[in-house]
Amino acid sequence: MQAQIDQYTAEINAFSPANADELETFRIKFLGTKGIIKDLFEQFKTVGPEEKRTFGKVLNQFKQLAEAKYNELKETLDSGPKAKDLALDLTLPGEDFAVGSRHPLSLVRNEIIDIFKRLGFVVAEGPEIEDDWHNFSALNFPEEHPARDMQDTFFIKKNSGKDDIALRTHTSSVQVRMMEHGKPPFRAIMPGRVYRNEAISARAHCFFHQVEGLYVDENVSFADLKQTLYHFVQELYGEGTKVRFRPSYFPFTEPSAEMDVSCTICGGSGCNMCKYSGWVEILGCGMVDPNVLENCGIDSKKYTGFAFGMGMERIANLKYVIRDLRLFSENDVRFLKQFQTEIL
Ligand code: PHE
Repeated sequence: MQAQIDQYTAEINAFSPANADELETFRIKFLGTKGIIKDLFEQFKTVGPEEKRTFGKVLNQFKQLAEAKYNELKETLDSGPKAKDLALDLTLPGEDFAVGSRHPLSLVRNEIIDIFKRLGFVVAEGPEIEDDWHNFSALNFPEEHPARDMQDTFFIKKNSGKDDIALRTHTSSVQVRMMEHGKPPFRAIMPGRVYRNEAISARAHCFFHQVEGLYVDENVSFADLKQTLYHFVQELYGEGTKVRFRPSYFPFTEPSAEMDVSCTICGGSGCNMCKYSGWVEILGCGMVDPNVLENCGIDSKKYTGFAFGMGMERIANLKYVIRDLRLFSENDVRFLKQFQTEIL
């Protein structure tokens, strides 16, 4: 019996399992209900009283050794890398994961920027909190112009007029900043968020997004304005899209116009979108008023320019037929995931 125990002790000491299965086999072999230790204790019952004394101790020590070895190995196996990890196949394809999509306004903004960049326009940005000068006065708004009124403008500080601070109502303020701080020629577009004090509904919101454009140089004419915007529309809505200009009024341009495009939904034959007129308005434009140039320190005898401004929501609406403006800012995933998925 002693010889047997010595042999098992050596076996236990040398045992080093590669995985949990081997350890389990070890447990069953030595510690299981039909295992070696159980068997040895059975044999032990049959030995004489003399041997009982010596072997009792040896057997108990052997049992403790087997248990300690098992517990120790189990702990290291549990905390070490799992057998299944060790068998990981690194050549397997990865799992799919959900990618986000671009917001429709970002898609439209990027497309507009792309088109104008190809024409040599740069992108300019400015603050959303503006002073009276940049949002109104420099742009030739008369003191009593209704757009300055509390009804349209969110004022942050309202005093005498000159030092009012407000959320910008258009990105024309960026045009002023650009002209004040540089020298012509200017060729830039200004995308950004603007704010107006309107009740929120399907057709109006208290903030929206604009892209305005400015081109100032020697000999810039209304023909340049028309050709630039015509080209823009062909790029945006496709070859053959018609344009028409209607006389309009803005304090900062003279002459001023509004530009319509042939309805992008029905092609001009008449539908719900164009209210059966065949035309939809997309932007305001005009030749920069000489007063604005002078306000920004530019010689209006030498330089002329044109400017335009459009609402991105309107452009997106005509592209994706989104009838409720509120959808753009609600961040409803069911709405957002319909748009182009970002390719990483
Ligand atoms: N600033 C005008 C607006 O917000 C748009 C515009 C820009 C019109 C430039 C003409 C020229 O409505």
